[in-house]
Amino acid sequence: PRSPGRAPDLAGRHVVVSAGGTREALDPVRFLGNRSSGRQGYALARAALSRGAQVTLVAANVALDDVAGAKTVRVGSAAELRDAVVDAAADADAVVMAAAVADFRPRGYRDAKIKKTSDPDDAPVIELERTADILAELSANRVRAGQIIVGFAAETGDAGASVLDHGRAKLASKGCDLLVVNEVGADRGFESEQNQGVILDHDGGSTEVPRGSKSALAHALWDHVVERLPA
Ligand code: CTP
Ligand code: CA
Repeated sequence: PRSPGRAPDLAGRHVVVSAGGTREALDPVRFLGNRSSGRQGYALARAALSRGAQVTLVAANVALDDVAGAKTVRVGSAAELRDAVVDAAADADAVVMAAAVADFRPRGYRDAKIKKTSDPDDAPVIELERTADILAELSANRVRAGQIIVGFAAETGDAGASVLDHGRAKLASKGCDLLVVNEVGADRGFESEQNQGVILDHDGGSTEVPRGSKSALAHALWDHVVERLPA
């Protein structure tokens, strides 16, 4: 539902949102996955629709009700997500990478299920390889002038750097326009109904979004995107 008084400031724009978490198959029955529910990405899609956008939602392994009015493309692995997002980005005004994309996948998919042997101490060693960095690729190959590319980063602070330090470094290395940074930990981020974060801007700006609904964070992000979109 459109919030009363909110202008349809994304009317005539096509936005692409990736949501959920990718799964990388080990064998026909097993995968490496992550805990992303897809809720933040779905909230972004709903918020964009309420502001008049045409929305393509690239959904990786989500168990959520479809977003009426969005074009939803379902994907499984990081490679499938990459192809779907790059395809949809070809005529997009903005792309928001809210999906949790696997950084590594098993090297060499086995066609047959991996079996135990009779030796109780025997266990396979799973070798991993890197996946492609979709956000960096989108940022480096913008298909139109002024296309806005947005990333999400769940970070933890550590002895060497704060959550925001990590976010700033990530924004720079990815080359995107905006990066939403949130601190993950107990009851923060994944699988939660709520979210909070800081929207970092390529120009050095930052906006704190206090803890609240994923819809509130979504609208705060679209406010930033709208501000940057070329006329
Ligand atoms: N991302 C991506 N492709 C990947 C990995 C991540 O497009 N292979 C995107 C995510 O969708 C997110 C952003 O990059 O929007 C940041 O993800 P994150 O996991 O925080 O960054 P990484 O570069 O993978 O760094 P880290 O080693 O901290 O996981
Ligand atoms: Ca990662």
